[in-house]
Amino acid sequence: MKITIFGTGYVGLVTGACLADSGHDVLCMDVDQGKIERLKNGQIPIYEPGLEPIVRHNADAGRLKFTTDTAEAVAHGLLQFIAVGTPPDEDGSADLQYVLAVARSIGKHMDDYKVVVDKSTVPVGTADKVRDAVRLELDHRNLELDFDVVSNPEFLKEGAAVNDFMKPDRIIVGTSSDRAEEVLREVYYPFNRNHDRMIFMDIRSAELTKYAANAMLATKISFMNEIANLAERLGADIENVRRGIGSDPRIGYHFIYPGCGYGGSCFPKDVQALARTANGCGYESTLLNAVETVNYAQKHVLFDKVSHYFQGDLANKTIAVWGLSFKPNTDDMREAPSRTLMESLWQAGARVQAFDPEAMEETQRIYGDRDDLQLCGTKEQALRGADALVICTEWKEFRSPDFEGIAKALKEPVVIDGRNMYEPQMLDRHGLVYYAIGRGRNQFRMD
Ligand code: UDX
Repeated sequence: MKITIFGTGYVGLVTGACLADSGHDVLCMDVDQGKIERLKNGQIPIYEPGLEPIVRHNADAGRLKFTTDTAEAVAHGLLQFIAVGTPPDEDGSADLQYVLAVARSIGKHMDDYKVVVDKSTVPVGTADKVRDAVRLELDHRNLELDFDVVSNPEFLKEGAAVNDFMKPDRIIVGTSSDRAEEVLREVYYPFNRNHDRMIFMDIRSAELTKYAANAMLATKISFMNEIANLAERLGADIENVRRGIGSDPRIGYHFIYPGCGYGGSCFPKDVQALARTANGCGYESTLLNAVETVNYAQKHVLFDKVSHYFQGDLANKTIAVWGLSFKPNTDDMREAPSRTLMESLWQAGARVQAFDPEAMEETQRIYGDRDDLQLCGTKEQALRGADALVICTEWKEFRSPDFEGIAKALKEPVVIDGRNMYEPQMLDRHGLVYYAIGRGRNQFRMD
């Protein structure tokens, strides 16, 4: 099938590459000329395991092409996937200007039946706006062409995006048109052969499903972080509590890991956007607001622990930071807890020596050259001469470090772990003071 994808960000590029890999004829369009040039040369703008080989393979096979030409893009696909960004505007609502600009382009250039697919995470009611935008352009052209607008939200996780797309838990399609339903069934047939993963529903429910899924996951995390903070003050260990409650299948083990707050491009933005949508229809979502508030506070927990240890005197201290991306297997720094930590440390007059296996370039891009930030080539280098170590991201290579070496390299033998990576006894044995999240042994204990 002929498919056009607007937007070559995470969602657009993964969708395009995976659909091409299943045999479809895909054209990806982006307004960023530089990005398209790089993609044509087989260079992938993001770090995503497994993506580069399938982009190259399908580009070589001629099934995956790239363009900046809107007219060519609209002419190509029976399906027009909209996968452009929906950044938050000033009040946290999703900004639809890019989505609607694509809709207008489709209306301007189409000359036969199209299925317009909203793939970006968009607020409930966006499909109606997309339909109106396409129709308005057709009216200007005095054309009465048939088209359908479908909601088909994407659930892929960064770092596992290709696998998530290839083996989806579910494929949600919101549509009221039989013709569009048939087209979508055909597109997704290769991913749906063994088990029927497709769930068809009305458009608004599909749009809300995406937000509800992310809000539910964010709620689980904020809930666990809240209990962790409580455990810390009560002298309990959240890791025991986690295993204890996870064994109940109604709760489950997934997504109940406490930490230094959730980040990334989805949870913070989507929880906020859904709360604003609620406000917009006269409903105050107490729960969503609380999820956001808890997460905001949780991102400050690591700094509070460092500050507590040094009794508020961080001027001229050097802190080693391991892990900068918002989670492992990505170089994405959007809303990463490491940023809250580093920015608070700088404000308090401390210096940072940081290491991340993938996000060093991104950190350099965001913060540029500054005297109080040293980007180190290895995790060992980051420790040298530092006063303490803080871990923000649970990269695999931090799992069993040389504790002896850490104790020797640090001026103060203190490790503050935002991801509960270690058994406290292991660090005790090496004479390291260990602070983690919700592990009942630290400074907040009340008894
Ligand atoms: C998420 C959703 O999982 C995905 O379905 C949706 O399409 C987009 O948003 P992503 O943002 O890539 O994907 O990351 P995810 O792996 O879900 O992690 C989000 C954040 O939650 C990370 O900061 C992670 O560290 C944190 N997290 C996750 C926890 O703190 N505890 C957990 O138990 C799980």
